[in-house]
Amino acid sequence: MELFEQKFSQSMISRVALLNKITHYIVNRKGKQMRPMFVFLVAKMVSGGSVNERTYRGASVIELIHTATLVHDDVVDDSDRRRGFFSINALWKNKIAVLVGDYLLSKGLLLSIDNGDFDLLKIISVAVKEMSEGELLQIEKARKLDITEDIYYEIIRQKTATLIAACCSLGACAVNGTEAEVEKMRKFGELIGMAFQIKDDLFDYGSAKIGKPTGIDIKEQKMTLPLIYALNNSSSKEKAWIINSVKKHNKNSKRVKEVIAFVKDKGGLEYAVSKMITYQKEALVLLNEYPESPYKSSLIAMVNYVIERKK
Ligand code: IPE
Ligand code: IPE
Ligand code: MG
Ligand code: MG
Repeated sequence: MELFEQKFSQSMISRVALLNKITHYIVNRKGKQMRPMFVFLVAKMVSGGSVNERTYRGASVIELIHTATLVHDDVVDDSDRRRGFFSINALWKNKIAVLVGDYLLSKGLLLSIDNGDFDLLKIISVAVKEMSEGELLQIEKARKLDITEDIYYEIIRQKTATLIAACCSLGACAVNGTEAEVEKMRKFGELIGMAFQIKDDLFDYGSAKIGKPTGIDIKEQKMTLPLIYALNNSSSKEKAWIINSVKKHNKNSKRVKEVIAFVKDKGGLEYAVSKMITYQKEALVLLNEYPESPYKSSLIAMVNYVIERKK
């Protein structure tokens, strides 16, 4: 990871001073770096321990794209905090945040192109396309408030799981794993990604310090699994009250708190936790046929971390 961080930081360098200032700000406030870790661990498990320059480049591309989507996501969600500090849009405004996100995305794509990693580029481009679709589908549903549990899963599969799926399939592909192995690791990553986003959505219902705002999903009319479950288990009068709250009183903190309390009362959090664990277990099953190795053990630890993490 130390070597990765050096390469990752170098991959952002620009001749424009303002960009360098902002990318330094980003690099100094690094996140959990789970995605590159998945790239390396899958590569090592599949190859029996060896990683190569392709693996490092693939991991950098993924983290560049992840960073780009966070910068854009905070514009879309109008969020002023990220990783315990001000978000890029909070400090430099939306205009600059949009352009910085585009810059990071294109730097990522070029890193693959300039090195002829076209197989990796294909995996990554599918993820980029799906993430944009996922965020837009989410906005469409936030406007109409007609989200079902199945559509929720489709949204999180696209906006989040697809990039973690790309980490794992790219890890296998970078060390020249077989087609079947690459596909199996894609599925593995997708299942982890589903559990990961359910956990993220659960954080929004809590008050723990996670380095970004909590309680903002309802404000943004984002209906996530706990709320969907509560809705599905409410009387028509309760339903009308929830929908009205999310539609017309979503900026009223007191009302949002009442909705959150209602969701908790209905067992929405427990339900989401149970679904998250189902995805985690399904992911772990896919590792069964790999022989025991330190890489496999670390991957299992990572999968467990996804659902136990505190931020
Ligand atoms: C945040 O991802 C975005 C989601 C998909 C929920 P992470 O929680 O992995 O973000 P960092 O990189 O650790 O900050
Ligand atoms: C994940 O959704 C967004 C991306 C895939 C970039 P959220 O909007 O819930 O992510 P956070 O909570 O802002 O990190
Ligand atoms: Mg967000
Ligand atoms: Mg969130």
